[in-house]
Amino acid sequence: MQPEFIIVHQQVATHVAHIQLNRPNALNALNLQLMTELKTALQTLDADDQVRAIIISGNEKAFAAGADITQMAGKSAIDMYNTDQFSTWDAIKKTKKPIIAAVSGFALGGGCELAMLCDMIVASETARFGQPEIKLGVMPGAGGTQRLTRAVGKALAMEMVLTGRFITAAEALQAGLVNRITPVELYLEEAIKLAKEIAGMSPLATKMAKEAVLKAFDSSLEEGLHFERKNFYLLFASDDQKEGMQAFIEKRAPRFTGK
Ligand code: CAA
Repeated sequence: MQPEFIIVHQQVATHVAHIQLNRPNALNALNLQLMTELKTALQTLDADDQVRAIIISGNEKAFAAGADITQMAGKSAIDMYNTDQFSTWDAIKKTKKPIIAAVSGFALGGGCELAMLCDMIVASETARFGQPEIKLGVMPGAGGTQRLTRAVGKALAMEMVLTGRFITAAEALQAGLVNRITPVELYLEEAIKLAKEIAGMSPLATKMAKEAVLKAFDSSLEEGLHFERKNFYLLFASDDQKEGMQAFIEKRAPRFTGK
């Protein structure tokens, strides 16, 4: 069945896939159907050998303005427990391929949390990041207190979570939340450029490197270093390691196959 709230574009030649969140009338509010469609699309792209890097974007006005408030408003705690809406996020987190969030306009609540679940963020100058759940009488529930704090530090995270203040793209860059900022008309192009660059690397090395960087967030240094070393050694079982090193020696560009 065709998804209703996302559009998937795939560029076979460049190995880049692009998922566009497409609920513009609700500023891409993340309802249950959209999140399920996103999860399914990511699982499909993750299993597709032709895809080596993935972009998630919204539109110029909004990346996503959060979880769908109208869908949640009347729910009881037991409804929330039974629906367990954030379990889709756990599935998204399992994506092995690198994901770049291309953010323009609002990235609020679950929208900010979704951007932070991605591996890198390219932001337009108009991007606004925030965790305004406190103004709704709740708090972030999909990583906002944890990933934001790790990204920008305690002081700014605490301010954003406790006051709901939106930060600008410039503040987000300075705080280390985003990788780069572009004029609004170029943010998607810049994200595609970055995705193409990553898609030109060995896909196996890319996945294992991503896995190792993420390990830094939930392990001790010793454990993380051990994990990194294992992945490094493991890559010597790949054709791409032989090709990459041989190409360097022969002073030519490598041709990575993902084997
Ligand atoms: N859920 C449902 N609908 C939303 C929405 C949301 N999160 N955000 C915006 N919309 C809808 C609006 O209701 C409106 O719909 P109608 O035209 O049918 O009335 C439409 O999108 C356009 O929004 P606005 O008219 O409000 O646009 P604006 O430019 O005046 O304001 C805004 C933009 C400041 C982003 C404002 O829409 C807003 O504050 N949105 C809510 C942001 C928010 O609180 N997000 C957190 C949600 S909770 C969460 O995400 C929990 C979690 O941890 C996962």
